[in-house]
Amino acid sequence: MDAISVIRAKRDGGRLTDGQIDWIIDAYTRGEVADEQMSALAMAIFLNGMDRAEIARWTAAMIASGERMDFAALPRRTADKHSTGGVGDKITLPLAPLVAACGAAVPQLSGRGLGHTGGTLDKLESIPGWRALLSNEEMMRVLGDVGSVICAAGDGLAPADKKLYALRDVTGTVESIPLIASSIMSKKIAEGTGALVLDVKVGSGAFMKDLAAARELAATMVGLGTDHGVRTVALLTDMSTPLGRTAGNALEVRESVEVLAGGGPADVVELTLALAREMLDAAGLPDADPARALADGSAMDHWRRMISAQGGDPDAPLPVAREQHVVTAPASGVLTALDAYAVGVAAWRLGAGRARKEDPVQAGAGVELHAKPGDTVTAGEPLLTLHTDTPEKFDYALAALDGAVEVAAPGTDFTPSPIVLD
Ligand code: URA
Repeated sequence: MDAISVIRAKRDGGRLTDGQIDWIIDAYTRGEVADEQMSALAMAIFLNGMDRAEIARWTAAMIASGERMDFAALPRRTADKHSTGGVGDKITLPLAPLVAACGAAVPQLSGRGLGHTGGTLDKLESIPGWRALLSNEEMMRVLGDVGSVICAAGDGLAPADKKLYALRDVTGTVESIPLIASSIMSKKIAEGTGALVLDVKVGSGAFMKDLAAARELAATMVGLGTDHGVRTVALLTDMSTPLGRTAGNALEVRESVEVLAGGGPADVVELTLALAREMLDAAGLPDADPARALADGSAMDHWRRMISAQGGDPDAPLPVAREQHVVTAPASGVLTALDAYAVGVAAWRLGAGRARKEDPVQAGAGVELHAKPGDTVTAGEPLLTLHTDTPEKFDYALAALDGAVEVAAPGTDFTPSPIVLD
């Protein structure tokens, strides 16, 4: 077998055989197939797609590239959630301890942000002392003691995806249904969760810009999970505007703690509860009441224990960026658009995200929203606050926000998109 014949087969619109898929994934993981060859194949897949059987085999080969975890010995049923990525998407932070407080075990292996979407680990690392890197034994101990753990996936889990995802990120091959579905599901199946809830984002700030593409991605992932014995469900949720009122690392931790304290923005609370109900249902706990666990402080108690168990101080003040810049509303009236992608890029340019894998992120950087679509705004009043330690980046971030805001005449009848679309 050789890489060139596999690339040619997909370049010319053909199907890859099981043997070709198994060989290329294994040879790429071992370093026998070069990055430039895998980039060419990823682009051929991006352009010509894969059928369901090819996607299933590709996913199985990525799972087989590394180790598999097993939570069968835990006394609680496991449930996990995965978001396909968005702006201001801090939901994992309140969700994991909330679902643990309701009786399920939540082994949440999470990632870092790359590009305009934020990463759960970067957010949590703004809490002084908190550690994302745990050994398998530490992870199992926190999961057993607290009921939830949020940490980085170990190097042994789906190593083919680790290499391929980094390559796709720099070769313009991320937004492909076969490649996204196999990337996410290989990690989640290898992780060994019993139930999985997928939050498939739709809109400008998501990889899938329209509902039809998001539906196809969701159906592909649900099929893969089900075939591997994982109870998998998917919600399609809106990502046309940022979730909540913050995009950035420490800013989003602060907002998550507000939700755990019984407050926080209505959209974040609504989506956290919707996903919690799905996770609890999939874990065989349909009668658990997540709204009550938010209200009675038990979710907050689990959060504090989870953060402490991973070396963090839940009472430590969160980092604040050195400089702020206020953007005011351009007109008076009803805010009808505040574009998620533009806000994500602005937060990234301010230092909340990284351009390359090895770049550091600024804990305090990001964007704070003072209004959401549907709110009434007044010309000259604060609409956004930009936060950064590197004020020379303000102009660059402001350029990303060009055209991101739309204000309609006062009194215009406007209903914002619901959070859960399907
Ligand atoms: N998240 C992943 O883990 N993989 C993708 O391809 C896209 C989002």
